[in-house]
Amino acid sequence: MVAISKSNGQATLEINLRTEEDRSYPIVIENGLISKIPEDLKERNLGKRFAIITDTNVSPIYGTALEKDLKDAGFMAKRIGFPAGEQSKSFEVLEYLVNELSASGFGRDTTIIALGGGVVGDLAGFVAAGFNRGVRLIQIPTTLVAQADSSIGGKTGIDTKYGKNLFGAIKQPEIVYIDPLALKTLPPKQYSWGLAETVKHAIILDAAFFGYLDQNTADVLKMTDDVLFKLAETNCRIKGTVVEADPYENGLRRILNLGHTVGHAVEMLSSYTIPHGYCVAIGMLPALRMANKITGFPLGDINRVEKLLDKFHLPTKIPSGISTDDIINATALDKKASENQARYCLPIRIGKMEMFEHQYVIPVEESIVRYAIDASRDRSDILDSK
Ligand SMILES: NC(=O)c1ccc[n+]([C@@H]2O[C@H](COP(=O)([O-])OP(=O)(O)OC[C@H]3O[C@@H](n4cnc5c(N)ncnc54)[C@H](O)[C@@H]3O)[C@@H](O)[C@H]2O)c1
Ligand SMILES: [Zn+2]
Repeated sequence: MVAISKSNGQATLEINLRTEEDRSYPIVIENGLISKIPEDLKERNLGKRFAIITDTNVSPIYGTALEKDLKDAGFMAKRIGFPAGEQSKSFEVLEYLVNELSASGFGRDTTIIALGGGVVGDLAGFVAAGFNRGVRLIQIPTTLVAQADSSIGGKTGIDTKYGKNLFGAIKQPEIVYIDPLALKTLPPKQYSWGLAETVKHAIILDAAFFGYLDQNTADVLKMTDDVLFKLAETNCRIKGTVVEADPYENGLRRILNLGHTVGHAVEMLSSYTIPHGYCVAIGMLPALRMANKITGFPLGDINRVEKLLDKFHLPTKIPSGISTDDIINATALDKKASENQARYCLPIRIGKMEMFEHQYVIPVEESIVRYAIDASRDRSDILDSK
């Protein structure tokens, strides 16, 4: 009920919108799932008119068949594609997609299917948040980054000329369908970028999973069916656990930033020429070296992580063209910095993160940051520069 209070000629009406909305949703994982999705959708009440938003790479591999299968199952379905790549996370492509939906006759009863990697998920999710003030969203992630990370948590958005992901919304999907076998068509580099986030997940919350990755490197690289299923299931459980405990990113969710403080600095200082996944791998080693000094993270485990990243074809050394001073200055601009002292997410050991004043970010003295960065360079680079 609207409460009204009046005093001195002023009326205040209280519009009470307190809700206890349940935004829970399932993540369904099965090898070969993509072709079964239309049948599954018949069992769920998630709409009859599907707009499949996808990019130019994924559209011919999985989009054409999905559109046909949805139609064969009696649904209305249309694919709307945009050029693959991060540069499509733009106002222009957003505008194109929104207009294309209207031009195709889609309205309030639309269900948007985001079919593709993180770029598709972020863009299509944002379209779903805004089209007709919000329509249903289904995520079908097809990269390891998307299956492990971006399809869970509800963050969507685009880049602006001032930076990445600066304009967006939180939009939770109705369901996430993961077909781990879809990764088999992924270029190897793209797979390894997802492995960087996967190793990060193992370090922050799951020592047994780290052991599994360590013992099954050959099968991980071969992308065996069992491994792909295990990666999807475990990554989703870890990211899901963190998101569930901290949907608004006040505390625990920060542990997902392991490796990202130095990583973001390297990414920015390379003018985004080094892909994010490589930067996360590069950023992980300095963080672990800081952890060694501050939380006693074992030196032997630093070696294990370094060897594992190396086997996954991920870089572990800070590029020689990027100076320690520049990294330190850039991390001071990072959103986790406060009072000019950079704060880091640091593990105590593999599978357990350190807390500081009930937070998972720990202020680190500059001398330790400097040591950790310098120690994470290729020794031959250091000798070369002398
Ligand atoms: N929302 C979040 O929480 C979150 C989290 C992490 C990353 N992200 C965002 O995700 C994006 C990166 O995601 P990404 O690494 O998946 O990149 P991406 O979506 O650009 O996909 C990488 C490339 O692989 C192609 N591709 C996708 N699936 C394929 C398949 N199965 N077979 C063959 N090719 C395939 C794509 O067309 C693209 O060229 C960034 O924009 C990042 O900001 C968002
Ligand atoms: Zn990341």
